[in-house]
Amino acid sequence: MSTIQKQTENMMRLPAERLYADEIAALIKADKGKVPTGWQMSPQAVFTFITGGKAGKTVITPKYIGNKRLVEMAIATLVTDRALLLIGEPGTAKSWLSENLTAAIYGHSGLVVQGTAGTTEEQVRYSWNYAMLLANGPTPEALVQSPIMRAMEAGGIARFEEISRCASEVQDALISILSEKTISVPELGKEVSAHKGFSIIATANTRDRGVNEMSAALKRRFNIVVLPTPSDMETEVEIVKKRVQEIAAAYDLQSAAPADEALHKVVTIFRELRNGMTLDKKEKVKSPAGVISTAEAISLLTNSMALAASFGSGELTDEDLAAGLQGAIVKDDVKDKLVWKEYLDNVMKKRGAEWRGLYTACKELNE
Ligand SMILES: Nc1ncnc2c1ncn2[C@@H]1O[C@H](COP(=O)(O)OP(=O)(O)OP(=O)(O)O)[C@@H](O)[C@H]1O
Ligand SMILES: [Mg+2]
Repeated sequence: MSTIQKQTENMMRLPAERLYADEIAALIKADKGKVPTGWQMSPQAVFTFITGGKAGKTVITPKYIGNKRLVEMAIATLVTDRALLLIGEPGTAKSWLSENLTAAIYGHSGLVVQGTAGTTEEQVRYSWNYAMLLANGPTPEALVQSPIMRAMEAGGIARFEEISRCASEVQDALISILSEKTISVPELGKEVSAHKGFSIIATANTRDRGVNEMSAALKRRFNIVVLPTPSDMETEVEIVKKRVQEIAAAYDLQSAAPADEALHKVVTIFRELRNGMTLDKKEKVKSPAGVISTAEAISLLTNSMALAASFGSGELTDEDLAAGLQGAIVKDDVKDKLVWKEYLDNVMKKRGAEWRGLYTACKELNE
């Protein structure tokens, strides 16, 4: 066992390359396609890793469920020297896809810059170990490379999360990196040039649009792929089901997986609240202020499973689900509570016996 493997043994959350290490190894072994310089597998194998299939005898589980054309476009972008920008509503798997693409192509998804209002240019380029800088002046040892600089040297992929949250001067620092493919370090009189395979996958949330609108110059250096919310009920149920199973297994939750009926109910509620309309399009409903994405449905169900496992019978009950729903939907005490109440009374109550148990449990919690 390598030291990295040992270190990750008890990690709370495994990076994709560890979580799917067997699948990646099988894909590399069975790969017959042409592998681009700096990549560990061919674009076709990356596609199989993301969308699912087989590699020899190993089953490759789908990671991104949805429009496969989008995945092809994302991979094709990375074959060229253009950077990839994934945008979409919150919880549309932008970060998840970026992590898995990086794991498959480069084998290491940990070179991440997390964009915040406080992200500085140094975090994008490089900074210094000040104790060493003061003691010995600027030396290569005192240089603290950013994840992007490390990816350039290694010919790998760096991830830039929530890029549109960064101030525009920080975003501008990326423009020169993406067009010159070098970062100069004048203090050392040297330049770090990118090796083949280097690229950046950035993500941005459409709800943050306008915080710091990305400049046209920066946008032009990215190929943009928009990740949509799941187009239909079946797709969303499939995504939720699969991820809940995986997450519950990772946390070792001693609770039965949610029944298909519970999954359908949660996804129905989410889709109706999100679209502001019942599924049969007969009735308008109000949408809560917060985001009710697929990601929320996944965490709601895992939370309910944790409740059932720790304080219940181990079977997911309507009460466990109701607690999860209340937490996911009512984020603003006054307004959302009213929205949820209206939905319960105008829609759920009228749905008959099948929904009665859940309705009563939700109603009791939302008093
Ligand atoms: N189409 C999908 N296929 C597979 N998983 C999905 C899909 N949509 C959402 N998910 C799941 O939703 C969860 C959250 O996704 P993720 O954190 O990547 O969202 P995001 O788009 O980065 O959101 P944010 O904008 O809030 O950062 C992940 O567990 C992911 O597996
Ligand atoms: Mg994200």
